[in-house]
Amino acid sequence: MRYHAIAVLSFVATVLLACYAKSIPPRWDDMHTVHSWNNVPENWVNLGHPTAGTTIDLYIALKPHQESTLIDALYEVSDPSHIRYGAHLTREQVAELAAPHPHTLELVRSWLIHHDVPFSSFSMTHGGNTLTLPDVSIIQANKLLGASYRLYRHVKTNETIVRTIGYALPAVLHKHVWTVAPTTHFDSMPIGMRGQTLRNHSHVAAVKQAEAVSGEPVTALSSRDDVVTSPTFLRRLYNTWGYTPAASYQNMLAIVGYLWDTPSPTDLRAFMAKYRTDGVDGTYTVVQVNYGVYDPNDPNEEANLDLQYAQGIAYPTPLIFYGTGRGQSGTNDWYLSWLYSVIGLLSLPRTISISYFGQEPAFSRGRAEYLCYLYAQLGARGVSVLVSSGNDGVGNVGDCVRDDGSVRFISSFPASCPWVTAVGGTTDFLPERAADFSSGGFSDYFERPTYQQEAAASFFRVLGTQYQGLYNVSGRGFPDVSAQATGFRFFNKGVERHNQGTSGATPIFAAIISLLNDYRISNGRPPLGFLNVWLYGDGLAGLNDITRGSNPGCGTQGFSAIVGWDPVTGLGTPDFQRLQQIMVNQVS
Ligand SMILES: *[C@@H]1O[C@H](CO)[C@@H](O)[C@H](O)[C@H]1NC(C)=O
Ligand SMILES: *[C@@H]1O[C@H](CO)[C@@H](O)[C@H](O)[C@H]1NC(C)=O
Ligand SMILES: *[C@@H]1O[C@H](CO)[C@@H](O)[C@H](O)[C@H]1NC(C)=O
Repeated sequence: MRYHAIAVLSFVATVLLACYAKSIPPRWDDMHTVHSWNNVPENWVNLGHPTAGTTIDLYIALKPHQESTLIDALYEVSDPSHIRYGAHLTREQVAELAAPHPHTLELVRSWLIHHDVPFSSFSMTHGGNTLTLPDVSIIQANKLLGASYRLYRHVKTNETIVRTIGYALPAVLHKHVWTVAPTTHFDSMPIGMRGQTLRNHSHVAAVKQAEAVSGEPVTALSSRDDVVTSPTFLRRLYNTWGYTPAASYQNMLAIVGYLWDTPSPTDLRAFMAKYRTDGVDGTYTVVQVNYGVYDPNDPNEEANLDLQYAQGIAYPTPLIFYGTGRGQSGTNDWYLSWLYSVIGLLSLPRTISISYFGQEPAFSRGRAEYLCYLYAQLGARGVSVLVSSGNDGVGNVGDCVRDDGSVRFISSFPASCPWVTAVGGTTDFLPERAADFSSGGFSDYFERPTYQQEAAASFFRVLGTQYQGLYNVSGRGFPDVSAQATGFRFFNKGVERHNQGTSGATPIFAAIISLLNDYRISNGRPPLGFLNVWLYGDGLAGLNDITRGSNPGCGTQGFSAIVGWDPVTGLGTPDFQRLQQIMVNQVS
């Protein structure tokens, strides 16, 4: 009876709500800013209005019905002690969890109808929650988003993009929409915050040149001073030396390229011939994403370094190189372009390495949250995503002073996203210590995830009140792990080069994860997928804790590498054999 009454009541409520919705349409003119910059981002110049007739494709990322359901599933399939461990989700299952509430769709539809915009493709390939509005005129886009789209040119590359300094949405839509692209995202990657994490090593050029002349890869862990961080050295240091991949055909390792970066098969051969002589036939497959170009005759250092080190360690695991473009009228956004493309694939590489980063404040919060949610989708599908933590310590001095004059450490993104594994840098050996440029700190956008609570608490017990106010004490800490980040040798355009950076540390760590995946797959087990729940738990025993060095920046000494997790070297560097042993003892 009571049950019945409740049912009737809720029916009445529904009818009332429907009437209410009909009689009082939402105030579409009550526009509130979603995001805006105070100034045109550095390195871009305003060229004025785009030519008449210019159109853009608008991507509207809708919030999922319940954000937590995907994250809950991610935790379960990534936690070795959970019954669902390894039961990774399919593309369709992920899209279902990411789907918006029907009410969200209805509301957005009436908003678009109000503006005479046809409600078109709702795209599952974009993660189950994105609306695509193709060929929207600038006039229309300005009206929809209270925006002021202009043409901007990059001062160095001359690249032109259509962007707005700020945009708004009706207040009623704010809790339903995550972000709209393209709007306020200016990629400043080509210089400064370029996101390309190589670091020029010219200050020790003389020493390195001498090493190049001697031409000897290191074959033992001897004196560090004349060591080239070659695959041989790394395979011994991280104990992958004795392992022969067995499941290659089912296992794939992918290197992501942005900025039209391109590797070269000739350079790869030269590298393998010198540093991995049993693997000179090593090769890779190119996957062009969103009109990515691939010109092996015009390769660059970043792509070559990343690819060569991945191959040098993971050989003969099949390698994919993603050559990402920015599309034609598309999102014009490296991160989004790439994520949209791979999320639509039915089958994905098991391990993915991304050596690009930006400063967290250069991403609007909504955009960062949305991108992070897309990385979580990859994790739920069983992909290990590794990203470089950056090369700025706790922040480049000039970037740390905010508008009000206060100093704040600068986090990097995507490292600050809790659903990726961020890789910091080390140098030296026996013992390894933090590379002083290894970026690390705490996010201002993302809360500290459950898996990191204990590790961070023990770090804060040692840190005490130092740097209070310079970082966010409740934020997600990064990096999670680290690997060698100096002394790299690689070939570019036929010439042997040297460089350093967490750019190199990332494919190294990813290659070792790829070998662990190989071991699991060849034993009939699912791949590791999202790593952090495991790494902060059982996996910890398979890492070398780094307890020396620090990451200065922002005019401070930065954080120190200490016993346990720290925001410089994370949990530490990998020991393949120990990590493998942990798996042998694991039930699933
Ligand atoms: C950009 O344009 C300027 C002026 O037209 C030209 O001098 C410069 O070489 C161009 N830069 C690039 C990278 O194309
Ligand atoms: C490093 O920087 C120097 C000058 O600062 C430059 O001449 C050299 O080409 C750079 N090396 C690399 C590998 O980019
Ligand atoms: C600190 O981080 C939380 C998320 O964990 C965020 O909501 C908050 O805005 C951040 N504080 C500052 C000052 O940025």
